[in-house]
Amino acid sequence: MNRRSFSVPISFGIFLVATSNVAGHQFAKSNEPRQFSNLAAPRERDTILDPRPDEKKKDKEVQAKNPKAEDNPEPDVPYWPTPPTVVDKMLEMAEVKKGDVVYDLGCGDARILVAAAKKYGVKGFGFDIDPERVKESLDNVKKNKLEDLVTIKKADIFTLDLKDASVVTLYLMPELNVRLMPQLEKLKPGSRIVSHDWDMKGAKPKEVVSMRAKNAMGLERVHKVYLWVVPWEKE
Ligand SMILES: C[S@@+](CC[C@H](N)C(=O)[O-])C[C@H]1O[C@@H](n2cnc3c(N)ncnc32)[C@H](O)[C@@H]1O
Repeated sequence: MNRRSFSVPISFGIFLVATSNVAGHQFAKSNEPRQFSNLAAPRERDTILDPRPDEKKKDKEVQAKNPKAEDNPEPDVPYWPTPPTVVDKMLEMAEVKKGDVVYDLGCGDARILVAAAKKYGVKGFGFDIDPERVKESLDNVKKNKLEDLVTIKKADIFTLDLKDASVVTLYLMPELNVRLMPQLEKLKPGSRIVSHDWDMKGAKPKEVVSMRAKNAMGLERVHKVYLWVVPWEKE
């Protein structure tokens, strides 16, 4: 066998091993029932309905040993930071002034609260469900020596009592803004709510501003900022 014809079966063998590993990995990770399209029909119906009893048992054992997986639920929306010029516009539209208490629901790296504390000397509370964001926020607050003014907590925003806030800032999603309405309705009269990019169906904004700004990757687009004052007018 010459060198070339010898290398073909070896390459094919490597390919087979590699693809079988990839397929195995997908099965191990997937929660979907396995597809048996290349096999004879399974004899019993529950073969399909309960496709991975062993893996499920293993998952439960891993979870029991690692309660952190349950303590850290997935964020409802991923992290995208608000560009600094949009942050300034949000605080300006909310007419932040001395004595205000700003809550950022899903605070990311706490840039809105840091800007509010630096520019207006106001207290801020940031809440995020993602431990990585909480750490970034704490680092940002520390770097700017704002520990006296800005507090960061790991929390699910849908569990919060917002009665102590006079300004609430949001950069979430339209349906999440709507889901927050029962909590936002309980804010003191005169409290301001500002939302980057997203409206809140059922609540008529007092003001909407469009502005161009670059995101963290340098891409420029039009951003919107919505303002509501509590109690808001119904739409
Ligand atoms: C689009 S980012 C906005 C970050 C920051 N407010 C800003 O404007 O730069 C949304 C943030 O909400 C957080 N988040 C998503 N669902 C959440 C929840 N249920 N409770 C708390 N935080 C959440 C994400 O981890 C993320 O940091």
